[in-house]
Amino acid sequence: MSAPATERGTTGVFSPGRARILVRTLREDRWWVPPLLTVLGLSAFIIYATVRSFVRRAYWVEDYHYLTPFYSPCLSESCVPGSSHFGTPFPELPIWIPLGFVVLPFLLGFRLTCYYYRKAYYRSIWFSPPACAVAEPHSRYTGETRLPLIIQNAHRYFFYAAVIVSVINTYDAITAFHGKGGGFGFGLGNVILIVNVVLLWIYTISCHSCRHVTGGRLKHFSAHPIRYRMWTQVSKLNTRHMQFAWITLGTLVLTDFYVMLVASGTISDLRFVG
Ligand code: FES
Repeated sequence: MSAPATERGTTGVFSPGRARILVRTLREDRWWVPPLLTVLGLSAFIIYATVRSFVRRAYWVEDYHYLTPFYSPCLSESCVPGSSHFGTPFPELPIWIPLGFVVLPFLLGFRLTCYYYRKAYYRSIWFSPPACAVAEPHSRYTGETRLPLIIQNAHRYFFYAAVIVSVINTYDAITAFHGKGGGFGFGLGNVILIVNVVLLWIYTISCHSCRHVTGGRLKHFSAHPIRYRMWTQVSKLNTRHMQFAWITLGTLVLTDFYVMLVASGTISDLRFVG
């Protein structure tokens, strides 16, 4: 993973003044397991989400108004009738543009700039460093001070966009309480959509930027009791941010997969009402 001792330069962890350790690491545990699992998990999600975003099939259940989050909001005339909750301001789209193109860049930006995901892919993909006390292969380190990584500092703005997307997903989940012949209906799909949107909210609210929005830049918490209380609650969620990051990748896939199965007629929705 790191260069052999004979090829190493004199910068980074091999700079003069750093401990002269000639082996890659002195660790004897299986430090490479977490980065490997991270690569496998992220790759699986990216492949699934990319395929599903482009197939343009089985994303809307007309009978029960289930819409997969990967296609929400669906804003073009290419969307199947009924799936466009906010109208169709865009014309027919060529096949290479995903129907969820309006929000996908923001969701991607939100996850890519997330403090947890940064740690995850810096370690597992960029090996910078791959683990604590394991030398990285790079000889230079410029941090997040220049392009492209300086964009990481825009995370707060992606957080604002993610809040709007969560509101849209919430609207989708509420309008999905729809019976086959109209009126109120309730099935297993509703349970899945609601659980997914609740977990998306928890992941979004547990964001480090949200923590700063609620309690940052305050000199005296005692003078801002409401913001202090909000900050306290967000901070509690924030300690589980990594778990919510992974759980929501799973629930997004599960939700989309269930909608796909029902929309394609592979299975029937388990109905409780309507
Ligand atoms: Fe992870 Fe903001 S830090 S979403």
